[in-house]
Amino acid sequence: MTRPKIGVGDFRFGSTEKRYLKAVIASNRVSYGPFSRRFEAAFAKAHGCRHAVFCNSGTSALHIALAALKETRGWADGDEVLVPSVTFVATANVVYHNRMVPVFVDVDRKTYTMDPDLVEARVTPRTRALIPVHLMGLPADMAPLMAFARGRGLEVIEDACEAPFASYRGRKVGSFGAISCFSTYVAHFIVTGVGGLAATNDHDLAVRLRSLMNHGRDSIYLQIDDDDATGRRLHEIVARRFRFTSMGHSFRCTEFEAALGLAQLEQKGSIRRARRRNARLLTEGLRGLEDVLQLPCEPPGREHVYMLYPIVLRREDKQGLVNHLEDRGIETREIMPLINQPVYRRLYGDLEPRYPAARWINRSGFYVGCHQLLSKADIGYMVRQIKDYFAGKRQ
Ligand SMILES: Cc1ncc(COP(=O)(O)O)c(C=O)c1O
Repeated sequence: MTRPKIGVGDFRFGSTEKRYLKAVIASNRVSYGPFSRRFEAAFAKAHGCRHAVFCNSGTSALHIALAALKETRGWADGDEVLVPSVTFVATANVVYHNRMVPVFVDVDRKTYTMDPDLVEARVTPRTRALIPVHLMGLPADMAPLMAFARGRGLEVIEDACEAPFASYRGRKVGSFGAISCFSTYVAHFIVTGVGGLAATNDHDLAVRLRSLMNHGRDSIYLQIDDDDATGRRLHEIVARRFRFTSMGHSFRCTEFEAALGLAQLEQKGSIRRARRRNARLLTEGLRGLEDVLQLPCEPPGREHVYMLYPIVLRREDKQGLVNHLEDRGIETREIMPLINQPVYRRLYGDLEPRYPAARWINRSGFYVGCHQLLSKADIGYMVRQIKDYFAGKRQ
C-alpha cells in the first residue's frame, strides 16, 4: 500500500513564479536588483513598515537585527536578551552568536507564546531587549509585552518568522518592535528556498541592516546600481566602495529568491484563506477529543495565520500518537523545543524544572501541516487517523 504523504509544508512553482523567474533570466541580473527592491517594498508595506531588507534566511535577519541594535545602542558583550522558552533554536542562537546571553521566559500554556506575566521576574540590570516570537502563526501578546519593554527602556525585536501577515488588535505583526524578522525558508508561509527579511520603520537601522548583511560595507555602496552615479558622486562612491565600517556578514540573496517571494506575496490572501480553512477543518474534525488534546486557540484580537497546526496532549507523552501518524504518512514535528536541546543543556544545564510550560510542550506537543496545498480530503484523512488512535486506546 502506498502511504499518502502529508507534509508540514509543500511548494509548487506556479505560473507567476515561472514568469518572474524567466524575467530574471532574461534580465541577466542576478545580484540585488529590481525584483529584490519590489519584494522588499511590497513586503514592508504589507506589515506597516517603511523598510525591509531581504537576506538569505530568517536567522540572518535576526542576527543582523540584534547586531544593529547592539552597535547603535552601545550594548556590551554579556548583556542579556529575553527569549521564550519554546521557539526555534535560531531565536536564541543569534543572541549567543552576538556574544550576548539568552535568558528564557516561560510561555503561556494555551498560546505557546512568551508569557507577559513572567517577563518581569527575568529582568536584571543587564537586560537590553526581548524577542517575542509569533509562534506557528499566532501573534505573541504584544500589548503587555510592549508596555513592559517601554517601561523598562528595553528594545523589542519581533521574531515573526512563522507569522507573516498575521495581525494583533488590527495591526500587522512586524510593526511593533524596533525591527521584525521573517523567514521564507521551505515550509514557511512564503517560500523562496532560502530567505528572510528584517523590517523596520527606522531609516538609519535599515541602512545599517543592509550594510551588516553585506560584509559591513560603507553604506555609500550597497548594490551595483550605485555605480550608475556620475560626476562627484561617482568619485565619492569609488573612493569609499571598498570600505568596511562594521563587522558584517555575507548574508545576501539573489534576484531568483526575490522573484519567488514577489510571486507568492501576490497570492498571500489565498494562501492565508486556505491555511485558515484547513485549520478550522482540523479543529472541527477533532471536536470531541478536547479532553485529551489541546488544539490551537485564537485569543480575541490575535489573528492566527496557521503556518502550522500545533497539538498538545493534555496528560500523556506524544510519542505513541506521533508514531501512529508517521506510520500513516502524516508528517509531524516537535513544537520547537529549545531549552532541552543537547546544545542548550550543555550551555545552561537542565532548565526544564524551571520552565514547566516548556517542559509539558516539549514532552507532549507536536505539530502537523495545514498548508494551502492540502485538500479537504487530506484534512479528513488526518482527522480520521488521529481519531482512530484514540479509539484504539479506548477499546
Ligand atoms: C521562530 C523562528 N525563528 C527563526 C527561524 C529561522 O529562519 P530560517 O530557517 O530562515 O533561518 C525560524 C525558521 O524556521 C523560525 O521558525
